[in-house]
Amino acid sequence: MIRSLATYVPPRVLTNDDFARMVDTTNEWILQRTGIRERHIVDAGVATSDLGKEAAVRAIERAGLTPDDIDLIIVGTVTPDMMFPCTACLVQNKIGAHHAWGFDLNAACSAFTYAVTTASQMIGSGAHDHALVVGADVMSSIIDYKDRSTCVLFGDGAGAVVVSAAGEDDVGRILDFEHEIDGAGGPALYMPAGGSLRPPSHQTIDLRLHYVKQDGQTVFKFAVRKTEEISRRVLERNGLKPSDLDLFVSHQANRRIIQSATGKLGIDESKVIINIERFGNTTAATIPLALNDAVCGGRLKKGDLVLLASVGAGFTVGAVLLRWGF
Ligand code: ACO
Repeated sequence: MIRSLATYVPPRVLTNDDFARMVDTTNEWILQRTGIRERHIVDAGVATSDLGKEAAVRAIERAGLTPDDIDLIIVGTVTPDMMFPCTACLVQNKIGAHHAWGFDLNAACSAFTYAVTTASQMIGSGAHDHALVVGADVMSSIIDYKDRSTCVLFGDGAGAVVVSAAGEDDVGRILDFEHEIDGAGGPALYMPAGGSLRPPSHQTIDLRLHYVKQDGQTVFKFAVRKTEEISRRVLERNGLKPSDLDLFVSHQANRRIIQSATGKLGIDESKVIINIERFGNTTAATIPLALNDAVCGGRLKKGDLVLLASVGAGFTVGAVLLRWGF
């Protein structure tokens, strides 16, 4: 079960009007096409492990545990502090989780659903008692602030949950999951340089290849179709209808993607959490940030049936069905 949740966003905010001063765009266009008003951005020198640490420390405390109780750390991110060591090692050291092992999980916007599934299987097998799942990204480190079609979409942030075995008195459960990849979608959303194919060079920098490149419409259509498809599959397998859900928590890439997919599923909008307005797309952090807003707003309570759904670069697709435990 998910035993606790905590999130962290850096204090500095970039509004749509700030972007209108940087590129050829307007507050109206961004709000109408994406649903985003503002996003949080780190100051220079603040990295993914710093955001992840803040969320992790609070999540462990809220679970009534200490860092020494954590057996496994999975950090979902596409913006590691550096190529290696992995961000899980950096977080482990920063929080002092002396008994944990761990690794990074690169599934872009599906990293949180993938990591929750992976952690729950490690707990379910009996191998471990407590896993820390962190979804954290500093998207501002790979965004081209001269490209109006991508720069307005993303923000920085982190979320963390502790996944533990459910006791007899716990109502929380991770009930089911489903994941897919479709590598044919790679060219629709990627960062071309910086890896082994195109190591950094003056040429890759001159060509601006160390930034996110995206075919927005292809990603949009795939996200709507797959969010609906994978959600329906998990629900049907569990004998559930969309109306049985108490809350639907999608990855937050675009308000219109979420509204189209949930409209096709027939989920009432009162059961759909959309908080992209304040954070933009924080990649691995959107789902915990949305869960946190749902908890704080009284829209997510102990015993609620929740479906998490995500689509991300790769393409990666995920859904996790769970009963909320606190
Ligand atoms: N301000 C003003 N105009 C803009 C901006 C901007 N910030 N960005 C693009 N435009 C222009 C385009 O240049 C284009 O102009 P043109 O017609 O003169 O060529 C026009 O707006 C329409 O562009 P489209 O790409 O057709 O706009 P669309 O309605 O598809 O919206 C968007 C673009 C918001 C990127 C949308 O496709 C989208 O959200 N796609 C999903 C991508 C996404 O969220 N990816 C994130 C990660 S993956 C994931 O999370 C699922």
